[in-house]
Amino acid sequence: MSKLFVVFGATGQQGGSLVDYLLNNPTFSKQYKADLSKPETLPAAVEGADVVFSVTNYWDTASGEAEEAQGNAVADAARAAGVSQFIWSSLPSIAKDSNGRVTDVDHFESKARVEEYTKTLGFPFTAFFHAGWYMQNAKSAGLPPVTPLPDGTAIFPFAWPDELELPYIDITDIGKYLAPALRDPEGWNGKRIYGATAIYTCKEIADTMTRVTGRKVRYATLAELPPSTGSWPEENVLRPSPFMLQGSFFGKNGPAELKSLHAQMDEAPTTWEEYVKKSSPWF
Ligand SMILES: NC(=O)c1ccc[n+]([C@@H]2O[C@H](COP(=O)([O-])OP(=O)(O)OC[C@H]3O[C@@H](n4cnc5c(N)ncnc54)[C@H](OP(=O)(O)O)[C@@H]3O)[C@@H](O)[C@H]2O)c1
Repeated sequence: MSKLFVVFGATGQQGGSLVDYLLNNPTFSKQYKADLSKPETLPAAVEGADVVFSVTNYWDTASGEAEEAQGNAVADAARAAGVSQFIWSSLPSIAKDSNGRVTDVDHFESKARVEEYTKTLGFPFTAFFHAGWYMQNAKSAGLPPVTPLPDGTAIFPFAWPDELELPYIDITDIGKYLAPALRDPEGWNGKRIYGATAIYTCKEIADTMTRVTGRKVRYATLAELPPSTGSWPEENVLRPSPFMLQGSFFGKNGPAELKSLHAQMDEAPTTWEEYVKKSSPWF
């Protein structure tokens, strides 16, 4: 059983440094941090909570079964602890949304299964956060950076067509998106919270970056990508796979759902243009 360490002032210099120290210390971090892969450590973490937000990182294990087990275990622990509102960071089933055409998107399917399982547990209130493509992916997430070329242009490391559409979120805006469900658990009960500023085409993404940075930015051609080692992300995310081309992650109702959520948000989400400006320099 993990132990509970309560720090007042965790956002400040003393408390914040202590939290960083505990989490980075190999002994203390095991003692005081719940481990998603060890269900027996979870009850102490959720004990007494009114609201739980749960997220798992598929890429730590690259196993849908492992992610599903982690996600279900947190939901079980939260339900047993009498949590009132459970918010699961989910994603849609691409198999379902593509009518069975695209069935190998493991990290979406596992999250979608946890969403379905969570609904069976009888929480007073649930909500399901569906994050779009992080704007931060352009600088991190283990993806290649935007690369300047000798001719003065720069390329995004994805061989995607101009017209490909994706919902984009500045993930540091997450609280803005969850606020309506926190204010009105009943109104959002069982619903999806689609986290994105807008659905942008690749052309809009590249053109905005060109305008803001003053350097011509475009998406890579297939020939410009580094040779693939055959991994799923290289084959299906960097390249224009059936997964990437199947349409927006948010389904047919995505644009309408986004509009309705934005109308309930107090604070405007960060646009791609604002993100590009605040994240410079890029090259
Ligand atoms: N990138 C995108 O565009 C995108 C879009 C939609 C959804 N997603 C999904 O977002 C998820 C990742 O979330 P994120 O971006 O917040 O990831 P992240 O920044 O890598 O954070 C993962 C967090 O989970 C914690 N964690 C990992 N394993 C744990 C364990 N066994 N027990 C307890 N805590 C554990 C980590 O803590 P430590 O660092 O201390 O281990 C860290 O705090 C992925 O499943 C991905 O599919 C990503």
